Amino acid sequence: MSNESAVLQRDLRHTYPRAVSAEGHYIVDSEGMRYFDASGGAAISCLGHCQEDVLRALLEQARRLDFAHTAFFSNAAVEELADFLCSRAPSGLTHAYFSCGGSEAMEAAFKIAHQYFQERGEGSTRRWIIAREQSYHGNTLGALSFGNNGARRVPYSSILLQQDKVESCVSSWVSACDLYRGLNSGESHSDYTARLASELEDKIKELGAENVIAFAAETVSGSTLGAMPPTAGYWQAMREVCDRHGILLILDEVMCGSGRTGYLFACQEDGISPDLLAMSKGLGGGVQPIGATLVASHIVEAMRAGSGVLRHGHSFMSHPIICATALATQRVIEEQDLLTKVRADGEALQGMLSDGLQTRARLAAHIGDIRGRGLLRAVELVADKASKRPFPVELCLYKRVRECALAQGLICYPGAGNADGVSGDHILLAPPFTMTSSDMDFLVSKLYDSLEQVFSELDIF
Ligand SMILES: Cc1ncc(COP(=O)(O)O)c(C=O)c1O
Repeated sequence: MSNESAVLQRDLRHTYPRAVSAEGHYIVDSEGMRYFDASGGAAISCLGHCQEDVLRALLEQARRLDFAHTAFFSNAAVEELADFLCSRAPSGLTHAYFSCGGSEAMEAAFKIAHQYFQERGEGSTRRWIIAREQSYHGNTLGALSFGNNGARRVPYSSILLQQDKVESCVSSWVSACDLYRGLNSGESHSDYTARLASELEDKIKELGAENVIAFAAETVSGSTLGAMPPTAGYWQAMREVCDRHGILLILDEVMCGSGRTGYLFACQEDGISPDLLAMSKGLGGGVQPIGATLVASHIVEAMRAGSGVLRHGHSFMSHPIICATALATQRVIEEQDLLTKVRADGEALQGMLSDGLQTRARLAAHIGDIRGRGLLRAVELVADKASKRPFPVELCLYKRVRECALAQGLICYPGAGNADGVSGDHILLAPPFTMTSSDMDFLVSKLYDSLEQVFSELDIF
């Protein structure tokens, strides 16, 4: 037997430490090293790890009913979770479909949107999904086709849906709402919002409204742009454009939803309701893999009046153990009023990230932006602050920061490509909702120590 792992790991040249246990906010490896999970992996472990109430619910459900296929049965756990979410959801979202992850939740949203127009007899022309540059909606071929994450799309470009080869247009993507790089100097937020709304309107007209299914976007941009919140009026403006042209609005809250921004549904802060909304990551806190697609009543009614069936489905949809675990996770968040804490801690973390730079002048010169909502925050690294010039891609800065922080006992989620799809490094932070103030001190100091170490090693200072 070779010592080599038989697991097809993400990086085949890298030997990963082996996680053997988890306690609260820490993961422990086989050498006994403890890591503070300041990003919940990828914004997943919202209650930290091994939360007792959640584990109890999982075990109780497993003992009572492990699995019952949806071709034959519904089950109590899925019914309760659907009631929990729909009774708290933005108005109009009345039904929920449960899958096993974010990509599945978004695939379902795209397919249900498509089915809606089929049921209404408009299916023959409607085929475009308008999405945004610098977006990510998942790694399955459909979700990857509609999203715009350059690094993830390029290796598959020959087999993606031909979303970027619209006959008379350059693409079916519109600009992201990017307050760091997209806002023109001297432009007000409301003018910027109006500019983005008219860009969407122009794109719909260019494609022909009768050919468009939906506009899809992350309510708060996640790992591609790096925790980028929209302008105050952005979502109202986009909702109005969609309504004016009779197309659906799909919100991807896979990363920013489930309480991460301080609201169960991130769009509640923006005061709008989408037609479809995808959730995942924090919904089950990582204890079980779950995706959810919430659907507006008018879509469900069109399906009921038409074919009467959901044409999409998977073997593990509505899985009782997964749903019971997610329900327990969400109940803990509600019973402990953690969303209020997330909003307060988010502001505190933002302040500490800014204040922490006061004594680190050399580092401050390379921090272009600190942003986010609730406990979804990002620190953007730049070679030159005035011009916002990113570091050269070849440095692989984000990977070096991830490794250096890990060696110091901090799990954070660095990413690249926020400037143009390839370059532009940021560190995403998504700490547990239950984080203490000493956890927050540890997070900020370890993060900045790691950045300083990497910058010194690369002679950037
Ligand atoms: C906004 C967004 N949508 C979709 C996905 C895909 O989710 P998954 O990795 O669970 O398939 C992700 C994952 O990071 C995401 O951040």
